[in-house]
Amino acid sequence: MLRTPTDSYTVVPTVRALGRVRVPGDKSISHRYAMLAAIADGESTIIGYSPGADCAATLECLRGLGVAIQRAAEGTLDISGRGVGGLRAPSAPLDAVNSGTTMRLLSGIVAGHPFRTVITGDASLQRRPMRRIIEPLVRMGARIEAEDGRPPLSIEGGSLHGITHEPQVPSAQVKSGVLLAGLHASGRTRVVELIPTRDHTERALEAFGVTVVRDQSGIEIEGGQELSAQRLTVPGDISGAAFWASLAGGTPGSSIAIDGVGLNLSRVSVLDVYRRAGVQVDVSEAREAAGERVGALRFSFSSSQAFTVEPWEVPLVIDEIPALAAMAAMMPPGHTFTVRGAGELRVKESDRISALAAGFRALGSHVEEYEDGFTLESHPLTGGIVDAAGDHRLAMAFAIAATRAQAPTTISGAFSVDVSYPGFFEELARLTR
Ligand code: S3P
Repeated sequence: MLRTPTDSYTVVPTVRALGRVRVPGDKSISHRYAMLAAIADGESTIIGYSPGADCAATLECLRGLGVAIQRAAEGTLDISGRGVGGLRAPSAPLDAVNSGTTMRLLSGIVAGHPFRTVITGDASLQRRPMRRIIEPLVRMGARIEAEDGRPPLSIEGGSLHGITHEPQVPSAQVKSGVLLAGLHASGRTRVVELIPTRDHTERALEAFGVTVVRDQSGIEIEGGQELSAQRLTVPGDISGAAFWASLAGGTPGSSIAIDGVGLNLSRVSVLDVYRRAGVQVDVSEAREAAGERVGALRFSFSSSQAFTVEPWEVPLVIDEIPALAAMAAMMPPGHTFTVRGAGELRVKESDRISALAAGFRALGSHVEEYEDGFTLESHPLTGGIVDAAGDHRLAMAFAIAATRAQAPTTISGAFSVDVSYPGFFEELARLTR
């Protein structure tokens, strides 16, 4: 039977969650390894590539730019690089589907090629703001048309020159798009970054042999450097692991172990948040591969504490806020979770503040919504019907919270989980059996 993202799924309440899981390959790292392999010299092999629809969209876009990609085995890709500046003009618009990362990073790469590329996406992506990437790329020398600063983007690339850019909002996607354009530009490109965001692009560039200079206030890249093909393994996605952390941390008597998770320092802040919320978090077997830290995690129920995500932490835990909200909703009545300074949540795959508030209210939580965040106060979860608003992380968050409800919960649009975590519901059923 063919499943579509709009299909519903019903979650039944459970008493305990126990077991060991592996999470899909990290979404952010998968996009970057595929794009850099595409512009490297020679054939790269990527192991553990994310099976999600977002990363599949990146591969389709790269194929549209003339890159040969073979699936050697489950999760293993062979990518024939075309060298920096060697992509071919696409014969049709590229479709980034639901993936903001694909659109913003790839824009930086095609901006350095002397042809026109149109990048479009689904209804959700077409609502997302792109001026933040258009403006610096235009300053570097690209010509870009976009109605009201939103996709589709029509990018007339060419010879670029390096710039210094300070993004108005902390954004790894914008930083990465500009650095990738900088690789194709003359001279030096600098991205000023005073509030840190995930640094996978910098690390991936280094893994492919590019020199990236980092200091206290930013990152610099010299244009014209070449990349050499690599064999790389993508670590497990900590943002996917967060849902299991919330399941174990919100369910008395529970414990879940996850092997091979990416523990990059720009992604592990969420572990501190779980500890503050009363969860026991154990990290073991940490090692480094291609500049990325990887290790094993175990999350065990211990106690439930009200908790807050501070504005300065937001860029480092932005993708895990739905999972954290789920755990807060599972706590005994009267516990609160507050996040402020998170206005960016409104321009993610959905308006993650209003859709999250509506969903958790439908499940029984009390939620106060602010322009830049929310406070969720736990109340007995009733279950019922909840809408994922086409957003993979909300579908997973509602599913986790629903395991603690008094009655079954039907999630509409549940299979949007396929964007980052195909097989999520099967794992949930296995861990809560
Ligand atoms: C991502 C960066 C974040 C994050 C997104 C993936 C990336 O977006 O929310 O899911 O891979 O660079 P912003 O950098 O726009 O905040």
